[in-house]
Formats: sequence, C-alpha cells, structure tokens
Amino acid sequence: MATNIVIGNWKLNPDASKEAKKLFLGISKLASKMKRTQVVVAPPFVYTSLCQTKSKKLALGAQDVFWAEQGAYTGEISVTQLKDLGVKFVIIGHSERRALGESNEMINRKVRATLNAKLTPILCIGESAHDQQGAYLAFLSNEIRAGLKGVSKSELSKIIIAYEPIWAIGKRQADAMTPRQLHETVLYIQKILSETFGRDVSKKVRIIYGGSVGGQNAGDLMEHGQINGFLVGGASLSVETFAPILKAVDSI
Ligand code: PGA
Repeated sequence: MATNIVIGNWKLNPDASKEAKKLFLGISKLASKMKRTQVVVAPPFVYTSLCQTKSKKLALGAQDVFWAEQGAYTGEISVTQLKDLGVKFVIIGHSERRALGESNEMINRKVRATLNAKLTPILCIGESAHDQQGAYLAFLSNEIRAGLKGVSKSELSKIIIAYEPIWAIGKRQADAMTPRQLHETVLYIQKILSETFGRDVSKKVRIIYGGSVGGQNAGDLMEHGQINGFLVGGASLSVETFAPILKAVDSI
C-alpha cells in the first residue's frame, strides 16, 4: 500500500524567517514521531534554504515552479534550482494560482518539467461549486486530462493528485467536504485516470484532499474518503493545529 502523505502548504506565511525556522523545527519534531506517514512542508521560496532536514519522514516541497530551465523569465524559479535546495515535492496548479491566471496548459508544462527532473508533482484540481447536477465532474475531468497531457503511464504512478474543492478552502472544518462526498469524487477521479491511463497504473496514483482540514475532521475524511492524505493550508501554520491531523493520518 502506498504511504500516506500530509503536505503543509504555508502559502504566503509566516512574515519573518525567525518564525519560519521555529515552525519548521516544531513540524520536524512531529514528523519524527510518524510511523507510516510522509510529512512535507512547502514554505514560501525565500525560506526554502532555512527549512533543511535530514529526516526521511520530513521532506521539502515548493508551492510552484516554472517549466523552463533558465532564461529571461523574471521572478520565476526552475526545477533545477528547487532540486539543488533539496526540494522533493512541487505543488502545481493550486486554485490560488489558477485564480491569478494560470491555465491548464501552463500547469501541464509545469507537471512535465517536474517529472523530467524526477521530482514529485502534486497536481491540484477542484471545482468552484459542487452543483447537484454534477457539472463539476466534467470540470474535474478536464482539469485532470489537460494537466496530465503527454504524461506517460510509467510517469503517472509518481504523481499525486490533490483534490481541493475551491468552495471548501479556508473555511471552518464544519464547511469542509463530507467524507461521503469526498469518496464519490475520489471514485470519479480514479475512473477518469483509468480511462486515460488504464486501471493498473491508475491505482498507484495517490489522491489527497485539501480544504479546511483540521483535527476534528481529518480522521473521518481519511477513513471514509478513501484518500492517501491531505494538503493542509491554515492548520499547517502551527504545531498545535497540525499535530492532530498528522496523528489522525498516521493512525489509519
Ligand atoms: P486550507 O487550505 O487548509 O486553509 O483550507 C488548503 C489549501 O488551499 O491547500
């Protein structure tokens, strides 16, 4: 069985390097207690070199990447630069980046550049509204197919899909998805992957959930949602709120 994974996406936090170091150290301690869960921290780029660890249970992630190796691309960061700083996981196509204008085509380029560099892409998908008629399913299908265009079967197993319904991000835990809704959507994602890549390899793709995950809902979502872990925003910004999520995942 694939290892479960919890990724802390710090987004544009914290304000200063001193706090970043302290938080990273606290999360390292939590990660060292994990028995079967891989913990990943994705800090803002500027803190990447401060967040270094030798622990196998804690890995470094990035919140984005650019597809080109080098050249005239002001403000961008390459996979090679990330790799040089020990980054292993790259979040790609987060809804907050899509909202700033990132297209499926750009996301696909980033996924392929990340795979070429032998890093693990975390492809984010998610609808803005969960309508009763199921129009969101076609939306998700398009995000998956477009994001994974040109990816080979052998590469597919290295990808993590983060299902993050936009309507459930940054809310109270009570507003997150229900485990049942999550399970239905996970089955649908698996179906789309199977149609495109075949059943055997699709089963190897880890699917994680993100959107208002906390200590109260993590256990249920994990158990009944049939997922392999979480992408956590707000609750990854303090040891107190991150710890119960890690504990819930590690005890499944
Ligand atoms: P949240 O964010 O946990 O604060 O809802 C999740 C995400 O955007 O990755």
